Amino acid sequence: MLRRARIAVLVSGGGTNLEALLGAQATGGIPHGEIVLVCASNETAFALERARRRGIPAFGIPRRALGQEKFEAALTEKLADYRVDLIVLAGFLSILSEDFVRRWPDRIVNIHPSLIPAFCGKGYYGLKVHEEALRRGVKVTGATVHLVNEIPDGGRILLQKAVEVLPGDTPEVLQRRVMEQAEWVLLPRAVEQLSAQIASEKEDHL
Ligand code: GAR
Repeated sequence: MLRRARIAVLVSGGGTNLEALLGAQATGGIPHGEIVLVCASNETAFALERARRRGIPAFGIPRRALGQEKFEAALTEKLADYRVDLIVLAGFLSILSEDFVRRWPDRIVNIHPSLIPAFCGKGYYGLKVHEEALRRGVKVTGATVHLVNEIPDGGRILLQKAVEVLPGDTPEVLQRRVMEQAEWVLLPRAVEQLSAQIASEKEDHL
């Protein structure tokens, strides 16, 4: 029997990347993985609704109210409850502590809406990334899927895709193009690649 990677998706807002993953899962695009849990850093994230509609357990863990330490403790408990192998940050806009990251080597993957190393790091998230890209006048932007690890491996890049910036773009228009042409394509692909790797390691341990 195929052992599939058990995936948790962490979100903060609308969840269109989560939707892309759920869509890929429904159409057989992630044969080596299974989304078993969705957690949001707040209780009002629409992404939670998207998961619940598909019958996937979804929890809001209010990071602001709890503080980072209690938030991560609650998250760690959920990840253990659902026996998660792989964490996908899909529009998760909080920073995870070094301590947390250290406990998941090569098992946390993130999508960022630029061609890293451009427009990344502190303060660069969501629409702000596209505002800055337009302010600098870049002609090409895109998206990057990378692992989240401790420094020095910090953010080993797995996949990137370039997207054209067009005259008259607003941050919202550019964000949508980057999502459609890059993010929603790359993320399911990277998640399947990592899941296949994890699934084969699980087979080895049978
Ligand atoms: C996406 O563009 C994602 O790449 C970005 O936030 C948006 C969330 O949209 N993530 C970051 O900026 C991480 N630094 P979504 O909730 O609709 O998937």
